[in-house]
Amino acid sequence: MEKLIDGEKLNIPQHVAIIMDGNGRWAKKRLMPRNFGHKAGAKVVEQMCEDAYNLGVKYLTVYAFSTENWKRSVEEVSGIMNLLRHYLIDCIERASKNNMRVRVIGDRTALDADIVEKIEELETITAKYDGLNFTIALNYGGRDELRRGVQDIARKVASGEISPETIDEALISASLDTRDIPDPDLMIRTSGEYRLSNYLIWQLAYTEFYFTDVLWPDFTVEDLKEAIRYYNGRERRYGGVK
Ligand code: FPP
Repeated sequence: MEKLIDGEKLNIPQHVAIIMDGNGRWAKKRLMPRNFGHKAGAKVVEQMCEDAYNLGVKYLTVYAFSTENWKRSVEEVSGIMNLLRHYLIDCIERASKNNMRVRVIGDRTALDADIVEKIEELETITAKYDGLNFTIALNYGGRDELRRGVQDIARKVASGEISPETIDEALISASLDTRDIPDPDLMIRTSGEYRLSNYLIWQLAYTEFYFTDVLWPDFTVEDLKEAIRYYNGRERRYGGVK
C-alpha cells in the first residue's frame, strides 16, 4: 500500500516485526532497576500499535519474551510476567476500542495458568476485529516453534494422514504458530544489536532488516517512519535478478 508520509509517497510494509531491545540499558542510564525499563517499553508498545496502524501497517509482531529469557534473574522474569499479566488485561479494553485483533505466539505450556487464560480470552474476544493484527511473541523461540511444528507433521505421518513426500514449504508454514499471518516485510531491531536472537527464523527468510541504535523505550513514530523510508530504498528480489 502506498501512502503519503510527510509529503513523501512511501510503500508501507504490510507486516512489521520488532525486536524491542535496550530496555535494561535505558533503565540503567537512569539508575533504575531493569523492570523500570520494561515498564517503559510496554508503554511504547501501546503507542506503536496506534502509530503503525495509522501509517497503514496491517500486521505488527513484537518479541516480548523469548524461550531464552528464562535465564534472567527470578526478579526480572517475574517482573516481566507481571507486566504482561496487567498488559493482557488492559489490552482487552484497548483492543476493543481500537478494533485490534490480538494473537499470541510461542509455547504456552510453560506459562502460568492465569496468563494462559487471559491470552485465550483476549484472542477470542478480539478475533472479530479487522483493524491492526497485533501479535505478541511470548515464550517464543523460532527453533522451538519449528520443533513443535515438526512434531505435528511427524504425528500426521505416523498416523498415515499424510506421506513424507507431500511435506512442502506451505505445510511447514501452516504448522507454525504464525500459520494465519503473512511473513514480515520489515524487521526492526533496536539498541544497536545485530542479531536475530531466534526470532521468526523461518518467516524472516526474505524480510528487509532495519537496525537502529535507539533504545526501545525511546522509540517513536519518527523512528518507525525512518525504518519505513529505509525499507523503501530497498529493492526486493526474492533471490531473482531485476
Ligand atoms: C529487551 O531489552 C526486552 C525484553 C527482553 C523484554 C521486552 C518486554 C517488553 C517491552 C515489555 C512487555 C511487552 C509487551 C508486549 C507489553 P533488554 O532487557 O534485553 O535490554 P538490554 O539489552 O538493554 O539489557
